[in-house]
Amino acid sequence: MPQRNKKKIIAANWKMNPLSLQGAKNLTRGVLRSARVPQGTEVILCPPFPWLGDVKKILRGKKGYSLGAQDVFWENPDKGGAFTGEVSCQMLKDLGAEYVIVGHSERRRVMGESDEMVNKKLLTALNAGLKVILCVGEWVRDENYVSMVTQQLLASIENISVRDLSNIIIAYEPVWAIGTGEADTPDSALSAAILIRKIIMQKFQRKNMPRVKVLYGGSVNKNNAYSFISQNGIDGALVGGESLNAENFAQVIKV
Ligand code: PGA
Repeated sequence: MPQRNKKKIIAANWKMNPLSLQGAKNLTRGVLRSARVPQGTEVILCPPFPWLGDVKKILRGKKGYSLGAQDVFWENPDKGGAFTGEVSCQMLKDLGAEYVIVGHSERRRVMGESDEMVNKKLLTALNAGLKVILCVGEWVRDENYVSMVTQQLLASIENISVRDLSNIIIAYEPVWAIGTGEADTPDSALSAAILIRKIIMQKFQRKNMPRVKVLYGGSVNKNNAYSFISQNGIDGALVGGESLNAENFAQVIKV
């Protein structure tokens, strides 16, 4: 396998799984047992809110592993408040989360999150010192996909500074590829990653900008992971379904 000198990120989006705390602990231990994280790779496990603290306890001191949440609220990042059902940045940090996923298509589609809400979450999380995995992607692949991704990305990153770019990872997730078993092709995922970097470069027009990390997500599995991650312009993967099987996910980590 060719050597890559870039840092690689493999993020696991467990979504609303597993169903029990015991299941979450078993999955975490299973991943640790099956995979030693290669040098230069960071693995980010993103369990549902209730399992964050316990997953963190198991991950503590394990090289190459970090904890992420799947969402966060934008109000009162460091104090309580009357926001029933919401979770603040401070709560996530207290449980040991370093990352948070923002703008996942399931939240946009099922919970009706707008670009504006995604942008508020992104800015709040960055200000609170969390790193953000920002998801963008078109609903359908047609001739409008470039303008849809461009518009969604620009609206989601409004008002960020150049410095924030070091703390943002963009996950390109074409919605039609999520959970369908029909992943994008590596070539077209790479084109989208190049497009995303170009949009950001045009927004800031600076010479010395941090290189933005771009992941691919959407039906990544142990068999196709290498074809995406080995692309120079793709820095890793955001993995849903396959991350719920410790052994298969370990294969993705080792790619
Ligand atoms: P999938 O999900 O790997 O099951 O397609 C990816 C995601 O939604 O982040």
